Amino acid sequence: MMQCTDVHDRYLFRLITKKAILYTEMVTTGAIIHGSCLDQLNFNAEIEHPVAVQLGGSDPNDLSVCAKICDELGYDEINLNVGCPSERVQKGAFGACLMNEPNLVSECIAAMQESTDLPITVKCRIGVDNHDDYEFLHNFTSQIVRTNTPTLIVHARVAILKGLSPRQNRTVPPLKYEHVYMLKNDFPDLEIVINGGIKSVSESLEHLERVDGVMLGRAAYDNPMITSGVDEKVFNEAPQSHDRKEILSNYLRYCMDQYELGISYNRTLKHVFGINKGMPHARQYRKLILESMQKENLSSNINNLVSMV
Ligand SMILES: Cc1cc2nc3c(=O)[nH]c(=O)nc-3n(C[C@H](O)[C@H](O)[C@H](O)COP(=O)(O)O)c2cc1C
Repeated sequence: MMQCTDVHDRYLFRLITKKAILYTEMVTTGAIIHGSCLDQLNFNAEIEHPVAVQLGGSDPNDLSVCAKICDELGYDEINLNVGCPSERVQKGAFGACLMNEPNLVSECIAAMQESTDLPITVKCRIGVDNHDDYEFLHNFTSQIVRTNTPTLIVHARVAILKGLSPRQNRTVPPLKYEHVYMLKNDFPDLEIVINGGIKSVSESLEHLERVDGVMLGRAAYDNPMITSGVDEKVFNEAPQSHDRKEILSNYLRYCMDQYELGISYNRTLKHVFGINKGMPHARQYRKLILESMQKENLSSNINNLVSMV
């Protein structure tokens, strides 16, 4: 998620779950090739795996070059964005508008497969504009499975390319989970991951009766602790930690270390605004996080903050 799931946010999530696959925000091929995004591609190899990078682009050659770079950087998966509806992305002729061009998507996947052995996966919508029928999604999928892409992540809403902002495109078009379930029935060998509006591990478990995976976006970003049951309940593994205080204390110490390395608190502390969402001291806690960002005085506030969660 752009402006959200950066290297610091992923550090936080690795304190909560060691098994969930973490995705970078979309990084465009242009930004990689022109070298303006080294920061965005940075990841912490010691703790972050499994971690996937999401690329935005539609030029097979550029995507092939970028896939190779991401492979060399050590990512575990490369995901192609075919779901972003923003005007900027439409101008670049990639993102959701690529759902109208399944042949080009296949070419892009094939070009990336030439330059890396990493799995090349796709994240798409259930349709675009008035192509909101299941047949459209089925046709799109029939074309791209020929590339042997192993996984399709589907945000269960259409993208409306004209007239809705990206934000509205995440709320206004109705969720149609049924279309994603139908896709799994029709393409049983393709790993189908469902996304959109899913708010908890228990909701995820219900979807997992019908599909292979679940992707959480906003609910997890806004309230990271909702993912604390993932390792146990989804992967049948011992949990990383359920202890909010321990997680926060570790993360805040990480923020102080990053600060020493020149990373501002604005970049690191924003990820823990929601760590005690809905709890008694949530408001005072958020105020103190804000103060720690503005006055750069986290070291004086750390004990207080931990005591509030
Ligand atoms: C601030 C923000 C940034 C996002 N950036 C991306 C992105 O870079 N790539 C992507 O595939 N989806 C992006 N999304 C969409 C989410 O990944 C997800 O598909 C969508 O929000 C629906 O899932 P959710 O209801 O679990 O959030 C973004 C969403 C938000 C709110």
